Amino acid sequence: MKADYINDVEKVLCSEETICATVKGLGDTISADYKDKDLVLVGLLKGSVVFISDLMRAITIPCDIDFMDVSSYGASTVSSGVVNIIKDLNDSIEGRDVLIVEDILDSGRTLSKVVNILKERSPASIKVCTFLDKPEGRQVEFEADYVGCIIPDEFVIGYGLDYNECYRNLPFVGVLKRSVY
Ligand code: PRP
Repeated sequence: MKADYINDVEKVLCSEETICATVKGLGDTISADYKDKDLVLVGLLKGSVVFISDLMRAITIPCDIDFMDVSSYGASTVSSGVVNIIKDLNDSIEGRDVLIVEDILDSGRTLSKVVNILKERSPASIKVCTFLDKPEGRQVEFEADYVGCIIPDEFVIGYGLDYNECYRNLPFVGVLKRSVY
């Protein structure tokens, strides 16, 4: 990890204050929508870990969490179109109200594939909450049910998002300088 990695940020897209307010709003909405439901949050590793840890604390009703690890980018900044399942859920979702939690919806390939896989397991319902939505990146038709921030078509890092596994721990979402990749 480079000591001056914060200097690799071109500009901030979502500040810590914006993130905090956005997550609180999502938590309030989800808590109301899932009142009396059997909510399980499914985080997609690794990018969603920061968002899901904030979101679950902004949700004021009981919920479980579980994780899947799927990968579509590898070391590239462009989605490969191939989605590999590396780690499956620990528990059954049959009859449960599943909310998939993602850091970013870009081409839509990852989420459309994961939704299709999980639908086969007979959940009571399945919806998607993404912190970031980059509509210009879309390669397959896909809309999330809950969206934190809509962002332009730029390569973003921080708040869980990486480039070559770096920058995930930045507490804001920023655009990576073109000179870095
Ligand atoms: C990233 C991100 C989403 C996906 C979005 O995952 O976390 O899962 O790409 O892109 P898409 O809409 O074009 O499919 P990545 O495979 O980089 O793994 P990571 O979460 O471990 O960083």
